Amino acid sequence: MRIGVLGTGAMAEALAGSWARAGHELLAGGRSAAKAAELAERVGGRAGSLREAAGFGAVVLLAVPYAALADVLRQAGAGEGVLRGRAVVDCTNALDLATMEPDPDLLAGGPGAARRIAGLAEGARVVKGFNLAPADVWRRSPPGPGEARVAVPLCGDDEAALTAVRTLVRDAGGEPVDVGGLERAGLLEAAAVFAAGVWRQGRQPAEVFGPVASPGASPAAG
Ligand SMILES: NC(=O)c1ccc[n+]([C@@H]2O[C@H](COP(=O)([O-])OP(=O)(O)OC[C@H]3O[C@@H](n4cnc5c(N)ncnc54)[C@H](OP(=O)(O)O)[C@@H]3O)[C@@H](O)[C@H]2O)c1
Repeated sequence: MRIGVLGTGAMAEALAGSWARAGHELLAGGRSAAKAAELAERVGGRAGSLREAAGFGAVVLLAVPYAALADVLRQAGAGEGVLRGRAVVDCTNALDLATMEPDPDLLAGGPGAARRIAGLAEGARVVKGFNLAPADVWRRSPPGPGEARVAVPLCGDDEAALTAVRTLVRDAGGEPVDVGGLERAGLLEAAAVFAAGVWRQGRQPAEVFGPVASPGASPAAG
């Protein structure tokens, strides 16, 4: 697949690197031409502007801070239809990346990142995903046969976009898990912020849920 990457930070590098290793064609786009060129050099791919990355392929990864979303989408030409028809993978979380504190929008019950993106990028096929596991997970070599894969919950409304993103989850070494339409993306975003709060208390987020008896069984909390 041809994949445009908006952002040149930790998530952009980790995911773009995994997809480049799986044979996908990447264009790294950043507001800094130098950082985009460095990222393209490190992962193997081309570099360009945010707008060039947005218009590059069938899939666009949006890997920027929540607070920068509107600005990045404007620079990418989303208001002029550059993202129309493309699968936009939204891994953003409504957190301040420096403090890991939730953005006030989230606490005030705002629409969440994915639905904001869908509103700002007309015609984009937004898929929420990759927002729970830390970037380092995607830097590792993909697990071999029989080895555990990180589950990647996905929310989206467009089946073609979901199909493409499921492939990219597997190519990155994860296992896609469909958890509903875009109206549920806010739940995934809240889960990430909740997990960050647990982590800040020195605990592992997985400890909070405990084991579920079998894949088909309901969690005790119902
Ligand atoms: N890191 C993780 O483990 C992780 C895991 C899951 C989800 N996430 C989410 O993924 C997103 C990206 O996280 P990250 O860790 O990759 O962040 P990061 O390393 O800080 O990178 C952020 C990127 O966004 C760019 N950016 C910031 N403001 C911009 C603006 N106004 N216009 C254009 N570009 C702008 C930065 O460009 P400059 O370098 O030019 O500033 C940088 O390329 C966040 O929403 C985060 O919550 C992160």
